Amino acid sequence: MYFLQGTCYHPGADQIREKQNGTEKMNVSRNFLIAGAVYLIVGIVLGSYMGASEDHTLLPVHAHINLLGFTLMTVFGLAYRLIPQMAQGWMPKAHFWLHQIGTFVLLAGLALMMSGKMDGSTIGPVFPAMEVAILAGVLIWLANLWRNA
Ligand code: HEM
Ligand code: HEM
Repeated sequence: MYFLQGTCYHPGADQIREKQNGTEKMNVSRNFLIAGAVYLIVGIVLGSYMGASEDHTLLPVHAHINLLGFTLMTVFGLAYRLIPQMAQGWMPKAHFWLHQIGTFVLLAGLALMMSGKMDGSTIGPVFPAMEVAILAGVLIWLANLWRNA
């Protein structure tokens, strides 16, 4: 905490003020980090099941839960923390939701299809849409990096 022109200031002051007056902004760094940790837990549980059962049918699902889920989301969360200008405005929000929706629907659909619970012809057309969503999020991420990193 330090004093600036007689005003008490500390790094969390803006968030506290926003919380008090109801204009709280989305904390994209925290949200990405927490979502990543949730994916890691699911990835570890699935990996342990695969190891124990020797059933590797869901290997690509396990790999991408850990990679698209934990690894990328953690990298994004750390970068938004490291470069705070990147966490301002519409771009981080759009990136967060495109990545969340794209990753969840893609991986849930893949798991249902690869475990034989849903037919490929039903869920198949959803995959390209989710890939485009993830890609659009990453293009926004690149534009944001270009502008602010
Ligand atoms: C306790 C945690 C984990 C367990 C028990 C586990 C288990 C497994 C198993 C049994 C396989 C199949 C291996 C094969 O068929 O050759 C596998 C593959 C894989 N896992 Fe994990 N895993 C864990 C964590 C992770 C993490 C944290 C990541 C990434 C950040 C990861 C990424 C991968 C990838 C990319 C593959 C595919 C490798 C290939 O194509 O040969 N796993 N894992
Ligand atoms: C929308 C994004 C992505 C799509 C559509 C995608 C698609 C694929 C496909 C179709 C395969 C082959 C799976 C098979 O042979 O059964 C694959 C494998 C792999 N991908 Fe991705 N991928 C994506 C993102 C990523 C990312 C972000 C990473 C790393 C950070 C990654 C790492 C890998 C690895 C290590 C393998 C080999 C392991 C495996 O067979 O599952 N992928 N991916």
